[in-house]
Formats: sequence, C-alpha cells, structure tokens
Amino acid sequence: MQLHGIAILALLALFHQAQAYRPQELLAQRALIAEIGDATNQHITAKPCPSKATVFNDCFLTSSNAKDYPWGSPEISYSAAGDPWGVHLTGPYPDGRTYLVSWFTGGPTIKRNPTQPNTSALVTYASVQAAPSASAPSGENQTFAGSIITYLRLYTDTAYANYSYLSPYIHHVILANLTPSTTYTYQVSARDGNLAGNYSFTTLPLPADGAPSPYPLRIGIMGDVGQTRNSSVTRDHMLSNNPQVVIHVGDSSYADNYHASSPDLNKPGGTNQQRWDSFNVLWEPLFSRAPVLNIPGNHEVESSGIKSSISLTTASWSFPTNFPFQSYAARFPPPGSTAATLGSITASMYYSTVLGGVATLISFNNYIAYHRGSPQYEWAIKEFQKVNRTKTPWLFVQYHTSSYHTYTNHYKSMECFMSIWEDIFYRYGVDLVFNGHVHAYERTHPVYKYRRDDCAPTYVTVGDGGNIEGLYRNFVDDISSTTKKTYCEGFTASGKSPATLYYTNPGGWDSAGPRPANCSTVTFQPASGVAGGPPVMCLNGTDPLLGFCQSSQPNWSALRDPSFGHAILDLQSDTTARFRWFKNLVGTKVAVDDIVLERQASCQNRRRRSRHLSSS
Ligand SMILES: *[C@@H]1O[C@H](CO)[C@@H](O)[C@H](O)[C@H]1NC(C)=O
Ligand SMILES: *[C@@H]1O[C@H](CO)[C@@H](O)[C@H](O)[C@H]1NC(C)=O
Ligand SMILES: *[C@@H]1O[C@H](CO)[C@@H](O)[C@H](O)[C@H]1NC(C)=O
Ligand SMILES: *[C@@H]1O[C@H](CO)[C@@H](O)[C@H](O)[C@H]1NC(C)=O
Ligand SMILES: *[C@@H]1O[C@H](CO)[C@@H](O)[C@H](O)[C@H]1NC(C)=O
Ligand SMILES: *[C@@H]1O[C@H](CO)[C@@H](O)[C@H](O)[C@H]1NC(C)=O
Ligand SMILES: *[C@@H]1O[C@H](CO)[C@@H](O)[C@H](O)[C@H]1NC(C)=O
Ligand SMILES: *[C@@H]1O[C@H](CO)[C@@H](O)[C@H](O)[C@H]1NC(C)=O
Ligand SMILES: *[C@@H]1O[C@H](CO)[C@@H](O)[C@H](O)[C@H]1NC(C)=O
Ligand SMILES: [Fe+2]
Repeated sequence: MQLHGIAILALLALFHQAQAYRPQELLAQRALIAEIGDATNQHITAKPCPSKATVFNDCFLTSSNAKDYPWGSPEISYSAAGDPWGVHLTGPYPDGRTYLVSWFTGGPTIKRNPTQPNTSALVTYASVQAAPSASAPSGENQTFAGSIITYLRLYTDTAYANYSYLSPYIHHVILANLTPSTTYTYQVSARDGNLAGNYSFTTLPLPADGAPSPYPLRIGIMGDVGQTRNSSVTRDHMLSNNPQVVIHVGDSSYADNYHASSPDLNKPGGTNQQRWDSFNVLWEPLFSRAPVLNIPGNHEVESSGIKSSISLTTASWSFPTNFPFQSYAARFPPPGSTAATLGSITASMYYSTVLGGVATLISFNNYIAYHRGSPQYEWAIKEFQKVNRTKTPWLFVQYHTSSYHTYTNHYKSMECFMSIWEDIFYRYGVDLVFNGHVHAYERTHPVYKYRRDDCAPTYVTVGDGGNIEGLYRNFVDDISSTTKKTYCEGFTASGKSPATLYYTNPGGWDSAGPRPANCSTVTFQPASGVAGGPPVMCLNGTDPLLGFCQSSQPNWSALRDPSFGHAILDLQSDTTARFRWFKNLVGTKVAVDDIVLERQASCQNRRRRSRHLSSS
C-alpha cells in the first residue's frame, strides 16, 4: 500500500513538473493536504486500564517504568572539574546561517543564600572547523566569542531556603553566518579557557541562486522528553534517524517533579534544579549533533518556592533571580538571541524561524498571554503576515499543549487558545501544528473546528518522549467496563474529572479557573446540578458541541497510539512531505504511522504564487 502511494506520488511529481508553467490549471487540480498511505485511518486502542472508570490517574502515573535515571547514574553524570558538558545547539536563526552553541562548566552551588559571581567580564569561545572543500582545501576554521551567565534559584520559602541553587557557568556562543549544508566539527571552551571536546553537526541548507535544492530536508519532532530510560530510547532512535534539525515541543527536564533537597526525592510541584543539569547531560548526544528548536511547556514554568512573587501579567520578575521559565530561559535561549538578550526572559518565550530556507516555524508560548492585544498576539500576527509562501512554502506552528487529541487527560484543554488562534491558522494556511503535553501519540487529518477540512492544518501530538509521568492510555471514547459509559459521560464536574473543561488561561497556568475574558467565542456548557461549578464539556451523553463528547474515535483523528516514540518529517519538495512516527517498542526500521502529505494549492488559504508565476 505504501509503495502504491509512493508510485502515485511519482506520477504526481511528473504531473507537477509538466504543469509548472500553467499554474492556473495546477491550482484547479490540487487541493491542499492529501494523505497517501496505509496508516491514514488506523485506529489503535490501548489495553484497558484496570480501574479506569474510577481513578483514571492510576493508568498512567504509577507505571513502575516511569522513573528517571537515579542520581549518580553514568547516563546523567558529568565532571564538575571544568570540562564542558551538556553541549547543545539551538537553531537555525531566522537568517538560516546562524546557530547558538551552549554548554556548562563546573557544577552548581547548593546552600542557603549563595551569591552570584560577576561573569560579565568573562569571555568564552567556540571554534568551528568545516570539512575541507573544493573552495577551502584545508577547511574553514572560525573562532567565535560569547558570554557566560549563571542563574540563581533563591528560595524564600523556609522549607527550601537551605537548598538554594546557583547554576554552573552557562556558556553561550553565537556561531554567526556559517556556511549552509556544511558539516562542522566544533570545540568549546573549558573552564580554563582551552578548547575541548570533539563535536560535529551539519548546517541546514539555504536555497539561493545556484545553491542545490534544500530537499530532502529531515526534521525530527518530539516532546515531553524527560530523563527516564524510555527518554534515552527516544533520544537514540531520533539520533539513528539523523534529523537535520529537531523540533522539541516543550516539557524537558521535569525537574519540577522533585524536592529541592534531593534530585532523587519526588515531589510533584516542587523543583530540583540539579535535574536540569542531568537533563542537559542525558540529551547532549542528540542536542550537540542536531540543532534544536525548543519551546517552553508547563514544566518549564517552575513556580515552586517562588510562586507568591510571580505575576505573569505584570512582568515584575528580574533576571537572573527567581522568575518563571528561569531555568529554561537561561539554558535554551531561542534562535534569534543576541549577546544582549541571552538568558533574558523577554526574549525567551516565542519566536519564528525558517528551516532550510523553505519552512517557516512560528513558535508560541501558550503559558503566557496570547489573547488579542497581548504582546505575543501582536507579534504572531505580524509573523504570519510576513510569511512569503513563494519563498517558504511550508508553514508550521508549534506550542506545547495539544489542541486536537482524544485522550482523557487534557482533553479540550486548548479551547480558549483555539477560540483565538484556530481561525488565524486557517486563514494563513498553516500546514502542520506540532504539540505535546499529552503523553502519547496522535495525528489528525486536516481539521477545522472539529470537522475534517482539506484546507486546514494537520495536528500532531508527540508528548510521547518518555518522561517520568508515564503514558496516557485512555481515550475519551472508551466505554468503561463498570459504568458502561464513555469517559466523557462517566465523570462529573465535582470529581477528578477529565470532563472538566480545562483551558490554558492567558496569563495563567493550565488549570481550571476563572474563565478568561477573551474566550467569549467558546460556548461553555454549565455543569449539571453544580451551581456556579466549573463548566463541563459534555453532559449526559449528548453532543452539545460538535466533537466535545465522543462514543467512538472521531473521524478527524487519523491515528493514535499510547506509546513512546518520535516523529520524522521529510520535506521532499515544495508540495510533498513524508511524515512518520516511530514507536520506541518497534524501533526505527518500521514506522507505525507513515503517510505522504501533498500540499494542495486549490485551497485559497494555501495558495501561493509559484516561482514561475512571480516572474510573470
Ligand atoms: C561586574 O563587573 C563589571 C566589569 O567587569 C562591572 O562593570 C559591573 O558593574 C559588575 N557588576 C556588578 C553587579 O558588580
Ligand atoms: C581552529 O582555530 C583555533 C583558534 O586559533 C585553534 O585553537 C584550533 O586548534 C583550530 N582548530 C583546528 C581543527 O585547526
Ligand atoms: C537549614 O540549615 C540550618 C543551618 O544548618 C538549620 O538550622 C536548619 O534546620 C535547616 N533548615 C531546614 C528546613 O532544613
Ligand atoms: C573527532 O571525531 C571524529 C569522528 O566524529 C574523528 O574522525 C576525529 O578524528 C576526531 N578528532 C579528534 C581531534 O579527536
Ligand atoms: C520504557 O522502558 C522500560 C525499561 O526499559 C521498558 O520495559 C518499557 O517497555 C518502556 N515502555 C515503553 C512504552 O516504551
Ligand atoms: C516573495 O518571494 C518571492 C521569491 O523570493 C519574491 O519574488 C516576491 O517579491 C516576494 N513577495 C513579497 C510580497 O515580498
Ligand atoms: C480582550 O481583548 C480586547 C481586544 O479585543 C483587549 O482590549 C482586552 O484587553 C482583552 N482582555 C483581556 C482580559 O485579555
Ligand atoms: C439525560 O437526559 C435525559 C433527557 O433530558 C434524562 O431523562 C436523563 O435522566 C439524563 N441522564 C442523566 C444520567 O443525567
Ligand atoms: C465526520 O463526522 C462528522 C460528525 O460526526 C460528520 O458530520 C462528517 O460528515 C464526518 N466526515 C467524514 C469525512 O466522514
Ligand atoms: Fe506538559
């Protein structure tokens, strides 16, 4: 079947070639995203949970496998003696030529009231060496200077104060204006200033006059990765698929699952910053080899111990001490960061960049304000307006929390966000949306307002990286063996309810709370019999809002699988891509989800002037 699909594509490719000079006809022939392949309508159902109708958390929180590497394991250990560790690349920057390399030296200081060293006068270096080429027979050797920062997690809460954390040195060096499609080996400064290590990565292509085609372009996509044994399987499988760039949709270290006093003492809602250090060690083999495009998730917020001083609406935090997203911001500055903004929260939340010169990626932080009038809203609208589909035909969006999925946990948690953004994604013809948060895999068909629509984005949920919280295994449409109802019907607003309408509050966290003022286009169903209770999305087995309550897998859900894994997207041309999902338990030889996406230009929203058209 797959071969059949590819054969069809080969014909399509010929057809496109032949039609290239008659673009109007081409537009009439094609619609936007078509899916070709065996897996387009496959439905996979999880094994039933033992007690699912009553305590749905049991199904995913208590897996004996859901354990991070114990502190001291070689996989997460590093030397604090001064050699670089936790090397990671961020990029590409919007110019398509610049990357950021970051790493650590030394170890943290953990005590009451540590004081920060003044690192502002310290300079650090990274040296890159291009392989010899025809134009530079001895290779190109460039050295870049950068800066060192630290951050301080100063706990004011007396229960944590003794465990305040001063980070190791965090080195950031901007590798400006590298040559596209070039393999570089690189070295970075140790604490003593000498270059150390032997890393390598390949820059992404950048189409230009005379440059070879940027296709095929391989993009890895993963989320909610954590630091368990399952995480390292995801890492190794991703590595063996050799992506040119990796999109990571947020939730990295899960350091906030620990008590400040010990990186082995679980405490959901706490935070132990040493778990960020181990995270950077565990993921170095991938992150030092392929540039990563991160966004923050809820586990990057880390309010524990400092919550009382946080306001997400007044921007009253100050770098480098005690602000939300602090560890994330210090360790993973976004592409586009300059020497002046490295480590600054204002620069660390959302960004747009271009992959291989052909795919625009617009990255939201859905844990800060995104409503009309907010800075993020104004910024994103401008980014959408700037996209030139002739130059960059592919348009992707990423943010952490999944909009379209059918798992019980976090079901419908993005109604508020979507009430603002879904129409905008549609209007600008977004091809694919990448999400995580839901610890499982799901891919939709192109969908708009819960209806299949070939001109709408395809939504991919890959919160299946393998983190400590384990898998989500229950679907909203599962029929409970005890209540004979679906999840949607079986829970009430007063219980621990997947049927409670959660939403990400602009300016707040992912939780039920007062309804944000600007979600007015979402119609909420009042909770049955609970005066003033939280709204619920589904009552009494009816379907008050299309798609809210399901008794079978909705037809916009193409494939779902409650397993760990990662996705690979191969852009093959301006119009075709192969998308695959690899399940950890199956390996990388066979993809469990494997489809070809054909961008179809008959959709007004995705219509692009072809290169031929623009010159006529
Ligand atoms: C840090 O050192 C630089 C010069 O090395 C100095 O200009 C700056 O004022 C110092 N900052 C603090 C907070 O002491
Ligand atoms: C590149 O240049 C740096 C700085 O001059 C030097 O230390 C390093 O050894 C050189 N690397 C190679 C591979 O020549
Ligand atoms: C913090 O350390 C001080 C001094 O060692 C000690 O007296 C105090 O009990 C500790 N507090 C906690 C909560 O561990
Ligand atoms: C660096 O690693 C590469 C393989 O990745 C190897 O070919 C090369 O010899 C190493 N260079 C040094 C200086 O160790
Ligand atoms: C997670 O890792 C454990 C330990 O290696 C393994 O037994 C288990 O099957 C993995 N689970 C998944 C869903 O990949
Ligand atoms: C879009 O990009 C194409 C190709 O580079 C260029 O010719 C065209 O002028 C651009 N359109 C706009 C509106 O900038
Ligand atoms: C809601 O949106 C309006 C503009 O449409 C804006 O003026 C207002 O500040 C927003 N209110 C909130 C609470 O976000
Ligand atoms: C569902 O609604 C019907 C009709 O309104 C009503 O008769 C029935 O009692 C309701 N069932 C539940 C479980 O609320
Ligand atoms: C999908 O399901 C919806 C709602 O049940 C229905 O209206 C629609 O016709 C279905 N679409 C397809 C393509 O089957
Ligand atoms: Fe999350």
